[in-house]
Amino acid sequence: MNIAIAIDGPAGAGKSTIAKLAAKELSFIYVDTGALYRAIGLSAYRNGIGSKDVEGILELLNTIKVELAFNENHEQVVLLNGEDVSSLIRTPEISMYASDVSAIPQVRAFLLDLQRNMAKTNNVIMDGRDIGTVVLPDAKIKIFLTASAEVRAKRRYDELIEKGMDVKFDDVLNDVVTRDYNDSHRETAPLKPADDSILVDTSDLDLEQSVAKLISIMKEHM
Ligand code: DC
Repeated sequence: MNIAIAIDGPAGAGKSTIAKLAAKELSFIYVDTGALYRAIGLSAYRNGIGSKDVEGILELLNTIKVELAFNENHEQVVLLNGEDVSSLIRTPEISMYASDVSAIPQVRAFLLDLQRNMAKTNNVIMDGRDIGTVVLPDAKIKIFLTASAEVRAKRRYDELIEKGMDVKFDDVLNDVVTRDYNDSHRETAPLKPADDSILVDTSDLDLEQSVAKLISIMKEHM
């Protein structure tokens, strides 16, 4: 039986960075499910379909293929109609697109089997918003990772600046707060801790401390 660890939480809580390092330590595969919603967001954006144009997005779903693959470094690659779009999906614009399209129930259904199949065939640490509640309700360990909005915005801001992007802190904070609201107030699979999840707040922890804390929780519950 494969082991699944679910990590959910709001944007910028450090899920991906922490989960990636923890997966390496445990020799699990790390699956970033946000990338799937981002790929659909990117496809809508490229085709001139508004992120809230439900009909347009539903039509789009009939024409696209979203897949996950892993490169030689065991890093996730997301394929949109066979094209590696892994780095193109990491812009603030596509973040907001992803948040909007993720509220559409058919988009969530479209991606469900793909996510579950990853966990059927591998030991996974999967991060997202609804992994512990919907995608993998039987996950062995469920962690809800969070931090204050300001701390999360600062982390995201530093990341974007490091990538050479021209962004303002207030805009990043505003994006974080808006996405939190969208993600936790949608009707289908809203962001919320599973009843049996372990809550971890990383506001006062640096990366190393956060990773250590998660790994110790995982080892304790495995
Ligand atoms: O984790 P992320 O920031 O890359 O996710 C982008 C958007 O995708 C996020 O705002 C909400 C959505 N998402 C989701 O609804 N469910 C998931 N399991 C993962 C992401």
